[in-house]
Amino acid sequence: MSLSKFANVELARPTSSRTAISAAETELNRSSRSRELIWLYRMALRASIPGARKILFRLIRKLEAGDMNSATLRDIMQECHGVSIGAHSYGCFDPVRFPAGTMIERYVSIGPQVHIYRRNHPMQHLSLHPYFYNSNCGGQNTQDVPTAPLRIGADAWIGGHAVILPGCEEISRGAVIAAGAVVTKDVPPYAVVGGNPAKIIRYRFDSATIKAAEASQWWRLHPETATQRFDMTSNWQSAISKIAQGPGS
Ligand SMILES: CC(C)(COP(=O)(O)OP(=O)(O)OC[C@H]1O[C@@H](n2cnc3c(N)ncnc32)[C@H](O)[C@@H]1OP(=O)(O)O)[C@@H](O)C(=O)NCCC(=O)NCCS
Repeated sequence: MSLSKFANVELARPTSSRTAISAAETELNRSSRSRELIWLYRMALRASIPGARKILFRLIRKLEAGDMNSATLRDIMQECHGVSIGAHSYGCFDPVRFPAGTMIERYVSIGPQVHIYRRNHPMQHLSLHPYFYNSNCGGQNTQDVPTAPLRIGADAWIGGHAVILPGCEEISRGAVIAAGAVVTKDVPPYAVVGGNPAKIIRYRFDSATIKAAEASQWWRLHPETATQRFDMTSNWQSAISKIAQGPGS
């Protein structure tokens, strides 16, 4: 359920994050030792050595110019932790705070100490304790404790210390989550939400401007191409007619 309807704007269908990542391979850096590094990470995961995993993450960041550009870190998050992360997104390479089933599209900015929770303890059960429902704690893995997926649309910005709860399954393209927000519901495209529970503060643009931003599809492009093709400063609205022609023009 959305925080509010935003009926005037029809968005292009989001591409799956898997597609977004493979399409972006040429935009990312991959070390010649990528497969070996992934293998080492798997070994560290299997042997439960979090210190070694952290060192590997640090090394890969160095080799591949950081979170925004690393192909190997994206493979690790996808293959070992079930989190898909599009090109240029950052702040989300932490499998503890970003659980399996999280799909992060391209150009997403995530501030410090953001937490994403994907399921509640079973309030309808006799006990709330993980002993009785979580297989990791030796309990029966009961099917009636649902895990919610989460999609974060391209170019969304999540401010520091925000908490995303299971009631929110989609943070749409271009949305802003204010620092410290507690998000309980889906966030519409280009909305700015904040507070606890998060409510819409405003929209970034009026609906005509959102249509122009959507028509540009700039987030599908390499950053250099986007910069060449569009005015990426606050003057972009004055170049609206150019933007309306879309990326293929
Ligand atoms: C959401 C945000 C972008 C809004 O910025 P802004 O448009 O300049 O907003 P303003 O400061 O003019 O505030 C507009 C309204 O939103 C409210 N508001 C702003 N930030 C808020 C927050 N974090 N939580 C709740 N309400 C907030 C203001 O109180 C104000 O309410 P009012 O109109 O009732 O007075 C900004 O406040 C924010 O939270 N930025 C995140 C910064 C961050 O986390 N950076 C980490 C590194 S990425």
